Amino acid sequence: MRFLITAGPTREPIDPVRYISNRSSGKMGYAIAEAAIEAGHEVVLISGPVDVDRPRGVAVIPISTSDEMFDAVRRHTSRCDILVMCAAVADYKSAKVAKNKIKKRGENISLELVPTRDILASLPKDRQYLVVGFAAETENVENNAQKKLREKNCDIVVANDARIGMESDENEVTILFRDGEMKRISRDSKRIISRDLVKVFENYFEKRLTKKKQ
Ligand code: CTP
Repeated sequence: MRFLITAGPTREPIDPVRYISNRSSGKMGYAIAEAAIEAGHEVVLISGPVDVDRPRGVAVIPISTSDEMFDAVRRHTSRCDILVMCAAVADYKSAKVAKNKIKKRGENISLELVPTRDILASLPKDRQYLVVGFAAETENVENNAQKKLREKNCDIVVANDARIGMESDENEVTILFRDGEMKRISRDSKRIISRDLVKVFENYFEKRLTKKKQ
């Protein structure tokens, strides 16, 4: 199978020296990329700025902003069997990017933020590849993940509690499928969880192929 995986945070610039970002480390996405390679798949990894070693055999496309990630995903989906959107894409960006460094003044300032484009939600409804979304939650993990599965038209959503998975080498996840099925993977290293996830994705892909042939 040909995997297209996104990982890490995006950075949304404010001026030449500042940006808005989040605490995503990229470890989960990179671990999935590594597990997919180990299982004999082809992997393209669209990565935000992270401090993780590039897995051997993976083609890495470095990006910085959500717009760059949006374009990179669009360019590569035509050549993938499965898109795994593990990245923590920023939801907002600065309405204006100052050309010069914003100077300090002894007063409050406001920053106007505008929504970024939602990459998952803007994928075509009619597509050949599988779409796996991630849901990083801090409350009502399963309900919020179900909502993302429906609203972003995913085949699978991997939900996790951000307080456990964020920046950590470990995670615990609940996998939600379009048909309502659910599977839990209890707390373990991201490396082990990723191996299980890749198997789950392979099975789902095979099942879908078999259904199409019938
Ligand atoms: N995502 C995306 N484009 C965005 C934001 C998120 O494609 N602009 C994707 C993420 O890669 C992930 C899924 O949507 O696969 C859910 O991301 P998450 O941050 O959990 O949720 P949000 O949609 O941003 O919603 P909220 O922040 O309200 O939980």
